[in-house]
Amino acid sequence: MSREKFYVTTPIYYVNDVPHIGHSYTTIAADVLTRYHRLAGRDAFFLTGTDEHGIKVQQAAEGASKPPQVFCDGIVGQFKKAWQALNIKYDNFIRTTDVHHEEAVKKVLQDLHDGGFIHKGKYEALYCIGCEQFKTKSDLVDGKCPDHKMEPEVRSEECYLFKLSTFQERLLKSIKKDELKIRPLERKNEMVSFLEREELQDVSISRSKEKVSWGIPLPFDPSHTTYVWVDAFLNYLTGLGWPADRRNFEGFWPPDVQLMAKDILRVHATIWPSLLMALGVELPREYFIHGYFTVNGEKMSKSLGNVIDPIQLSRQYGADAIRYFILSEFPFGQDGDFSIKRLEECYNSDLANDLGNLLHRTIPMMEKYYGGKTPEPGELTTLETELREKASGVVRRLDRLMGQLKLRESLAEIWTVVNMANKYIDTAAPWALAREGKTERLATVMYTLLDCIRIITILTFPFMPETAEKIWSQLGIRESLSDQTISDATAWGRIQPGTVVTKEKPLFPRIE
Ligand code: MSP
Repeated sequence: MSREKFYVTTPIYYVNDVPHIGHSYTTIAADVLTRYHRLAGRDAFFLTGTDEHGIKVQQAAEGASKPPQVFCDGIVGQFKKAWQALNIKYDNFIRTTDVHHEEAVKKVLQDLHDGGFIHKGKYEALYCIGCEQFKTKSDLVDGKCPDHKMEPEVRSEECYLFKLSTFQERLLKSIKKDELKIRPLERKNEMVSFLEREELQDVSISRSKEKVSWGIPLPFDPSHTTYVWVDAFLNYLTGLGWPADRRNFEGFWPPDVQLMAKDILRVHATIWPSLLMALGVELPREYFIHGYFTVNGEKMSKSLGNVIDPIQLSRQYGADAIRYFILSEFPFGQDGDFSIKRLEECYNSDLANDLGNLLHRTIPMMEKYYGGKTPEPGELTTLETELREKASGVVRRLDRLMGQLKLRESLAEIWTVVNMANKYIDTAAPWALAREGKTERLATVMYTLLDCIRIITILTFPFMPETAEKIWSQLGIRESLSDQTISDATAWGRIQPGTVVTKEKPLFPRIE
């Protein structure tokens, strides 16, 4: 039987500026999901990348006095560095300036043109360069784009239009019936009411080359360049190697979940699926719209000087602390706030105290009582059987929670096992057993503790891969951690007696 597949995407990020912690949020979540689905035995593909064309990037390159391609290459280097620092393992990093992507975009436009989906016309509308999107008057607050706090420009020009209007009914039906599922539910409802209320207009998909030179020329009229969103959406196809790599494409298409924040939901719920319908390609299964976060209560912005650099942050606290904190601080799907103060509190309590101390207590006792050699366990008591049952319950719930993208709740479940293990040490009191010479009982307790840590390590692996590897190496287990599956986390007694554990540096030295 062939294995189930899991294809996850992040938005491709604009390269007008360097990556920040907001981009990191989506990308960390995608990485965790990918690693989890692999652990659960699925073939996973994780796509991320950069959105490099359009007026916004063109202006940024001009501002930096660099040719656009050279400018993009520089920022792309920063994105890749950030993802490396955060231990993000994507399967492909797509750039919209990749030659095969550009060629595929041209082919799609020619096909849409030949199919009668594109016509020449005139467009008059408001356009926000910050969003690279058209705006209606009702989108504005005090005449300005609420996201970018700038007045949109009035555009009135000849262009090519995509027949978006003809897809309204089909879009509404697909979203309503969850053929294209939008989660959380309130985001779906928003899109349904938008599509019921507003009449979709045909959308301009080109600009004259004079105005926007940094774009893919239309194959049927090279005096125009392609609208950056049309170019960008197709990354989800070309990132799988489409159209040349049919095997990879057929293996993974459609996306099982496309992650994004609410800022770009509306375009994703209108233009993107309409393009797919026009091309006769199956729609994505789901969009998950996570929350948007502020930093210390304010929107991140250069002028406020509160833009958080993920590279510097991971240098200071380590990738795993950031991965843990960012996903545990607020529910995935709800807005929240990011602050260094909370990061440090969370680090000390959940990581240094709970997880760090579990190791810090267990390994030295192992060295003291057994010279590090894992003992053969004896008879189990209800203390052990209860611990086992509770931990197995967590693993079962985890699968459901991860399927619902409840990442914060998943971490909380794993942490209940960490806390149970800490409590087990207090209750079983190995030091007293050692003092009283209850050797068989001591062996059972220490073995159970190590086995429980083994399970915690497997479960935390998707979230905190570096830490999990470090714990695994302390446990001395021969098989590699990346070969473990979720079923290894429900089985007990998997550590070979005699396996030698070793003490290493503390995982999370306390921040004072
Ligand atoms: N290039 C487009 C997307 C094209 S996809 C075909 C774009 N790029 S972006 O650089 O502006 O990235 C927006 C995305 O970055 C958001 O949808 C979200 O995934 C992430 N975030 C950026 N700032 C964020 C926060 N402050 N909080 C949460 N997510 C954030 O739009």
